[in-house]
Amino acid sequence: METVETIAGARARRCTDRAAGRRVALVPTMGYLHEGHLALVRRARELGDAVWVSIFVNPTQFGPNEDFERYPRDLKRDAALLEAEGVDVLFAPTVEEMYPREPVVKVSFPGLDNVLCGASRPGHFAGVGLVVAKLFNIVEPHVAVFGQKDAQQALLIRRLAADLSFPVEIEVTPTVREPDGLAMSSRNTYLSPTERAAAPVLYRALLAAAGAIAAGERDPAAVEALLRATVGAEPLAGLEYAVCVDAETLGRPERIGRPVLLALAVRFGATRLIDNLPVTPPEEG
Ligand code: PAF
Repeated sequence: METVETIAGARARRCTDRAAGRRVALVPTMGYLHEGHLALVRRARELGDAVWVSIFVNPTQFGPNEDFERYPRDLKRDAALLEAEGVDVLFAPTVEEMYPREPVVKVSFPGLDNVLCGASRPGHFAGVGLVVAKLFNIVEPHVAVFGQKDAQQALLIRRLAADLSFPVEIEVTPTVREPDGLAMSSRNTYLSPTERAAAPVLYRALLAAAGAIAAGERDPAAVEALLRATVGAEPLAGLEYAVCVDAETLGRPERIGRPVLLALAVRFGATRLIDNLPVTPPEEG
């Protein structure tokens, strides 16, 4: 595995891949890798002949009171995991390399970045959009792989690639879960043992709501009430949002007639966890 830390180094390596006719698959990450990331890497291996992983804790997607400073980092361990997966290139730039000065360009997604996670994390998706656009310009991947766990992010990145005509395919892979259903996340390491024991309530709530839709419930308000009630029964869980929204527009449908996204953000102490489940209602008739 080649590790590159500069944009010039990444471009030079990209030229080598291009000359060799390799199809480049990129997995953008913020590091502190877990099985969920490794599933993205394995999918990238199926989709490309040169697998690139970027590790960059992107300051522009953290709010002033968020966990940028304490976000877990372990580049040495991450590099060893990626090496073992047969990754070809690790791109791990510094903040100064990516942002030598305060960027003035803003990426906004009107109507899509101020709902769900965007409502409580103003500016978050602008930061994600900016860094992902930069990564696409630096690495010029044929395909980029993201996780369904960050459903809103995946949707916005699809729009970013389409609206700005990046010649990249966006691949979204299913959420990887612990045996008790908790979605894997680098932030799970913040949980105390009692919070960790309570955290699978997110997935339980999503399954209960998906079960209600499968059984014929078509009222999004009733589905959201079920999500809230299930999470509310867990004393350690502080609900931030529980929604049943159109999977494309993220707006609340009047009735569940098309694919929807069930999505939750829940706080356990200072730790904020998200999870979601895309659900296609069975055909009626
Ligand atoms: O999902 C993440 O880890 C980040 O938001 C991403 C896509 C790497 C951008 O910093």
